[in-house]
Amino acid sequence: MKTRCRFLILLLLTLVTFGLSFAARGQARVTKERFGDTLDGKGVDIYTLTNSHGVDARIINYGGIVTSLKVPDRNGKLDDVVLGFDNLDAYLKGRTYLGAIIGRYGNRIAKGRFTLNGVEYKLAVNNGENHLHGGIKGFDKVVWNARVLKVPNGAALELTYLSKDGEEGYPGNLSVKVIYTLTNANELKVDYSATTDKDTVVNLTQHSYFNLAGQGNGDILNHRLFINAARFTPTDAGSIPTGELRRVRGTPFDFTRPTAIGARINQDYDQLKLGKGYDHNFVLNGRMGTLRQAARVYEPTTGRMMEVWTTEPGMQFYTGNFLDGTLTGKDGKVYQQRYGFCLETQHYPDSPNKPSFPTAVLRKGTRYHTTTTFRFSTSKSEPPADRGPQAGSPLGVVDAGG
Ligand code: GLA
Repeated sequence: MKTRCRFLILLLLTLVTFGLSFAARGQARVTKERFGDTLDGKGVDIYTLTNSHGVDARIINYGGIVTSLKVPDRNGKLDDVVLGFDNLDAYLKGRTYLGAIIGRYGNRIAKGRFTLNGVEYKLAVNNGENHLHGGIKGFDKVVWNARVLKVPNGAALELTYLSKDGEEGYPGNLSVKVIYTLTNANELKVDYSATTDKDTVVNLTQHSYFNLAGQGNGDILNHRLFINAARFTPTDAGSIPTGELRRVRGTPFDFTRPTAIGARINQDYDQLKLGKGYDHNFVLNGRMGTLRQAARVYEPTTGRMMEVWTTEPGMQFYTGNFLDGTLTGKDGKVYQQRYGFCLETQHYPDSPNKPSFPTAVLRKGTRYHTTTTFRFSTSKSEPPADRGPQAGSPLGVVDAGG
């Protein structure tokens, strides 16, 4: 009897010990280390968010940059699927926005000007004659306040920044919050919110360059892409939308059925020539403000798949056209043209000057809030795309794709 009792206690202890160590391994967590100092002496930290499956995202509070994101392939092998640098200096010098939070306005505002409440605002001009990604010192180049959040379903980091009235020419003190959550379902969720003390314009996005075969491991032309959009916004030579919402059907911009990114990229089509590849905003199907699938990317050699879900009305699809082999990233990998793609969920470029586009105005006393989720999984072969809601586009156009 005594022996049996002892045996049972021993068994119980063993189970508890195993259980505890398993829980410790399987628990989402965040660790913090010093990453470097900015030129004006501000300390920058790197936060490692790890979820219950050992997937991890590393984020610095300079620019809110996702410096690495390790997700499994179909055999469970983790690899880093975003382009980035090993050290802060490279980010300080960088002009390619690798992995950063973009603001106040993602993408371009024509000639760096817009009029709001009868007042013309002049913004910093940093891309030819236009304003790009918030100006000379956008949100990608500032140090954010960071706070680790306790969440039930993963690991989370809150970043806040106060953009002063007049910064880069924008009106209003804008108080911005971005929460990154790496969920236990292998999603990187980005929640953006902002308030202002004066009417202004806001359009925040995330500028990660993905390569699902692993960063630096070749170009992204064989990745297969689905975009849930029946229209896109063609641009002029300066990448400013003309105002047209062009149907994708019958053009190289039709990704309503999964298609290799490289299948049509070199076709003789005006918009591909102007953009040096894809560098365009897609008008997402479904209702703006509701979380719906914007895109899905499948990488056939590793089986990695990424879905993008968003509440935003648009998404910039950019194929790393300006990467040219002059940047050396993590692990000494050289980033050649088209070594990464971006899916920047957003309001359409130049909305402040295009009354027909969904408005990017944030009124004093109201709150800006958008969500985008990058969901990672694997598959042996490419599943059919879920084309989701086709009706009720942001402009109220019911469009079944052509
Ligand atoms: C966006 C723009 C591109 C380019 C990249 C950053 O995607 O649309 O034209 O500026 O950012 O290099």
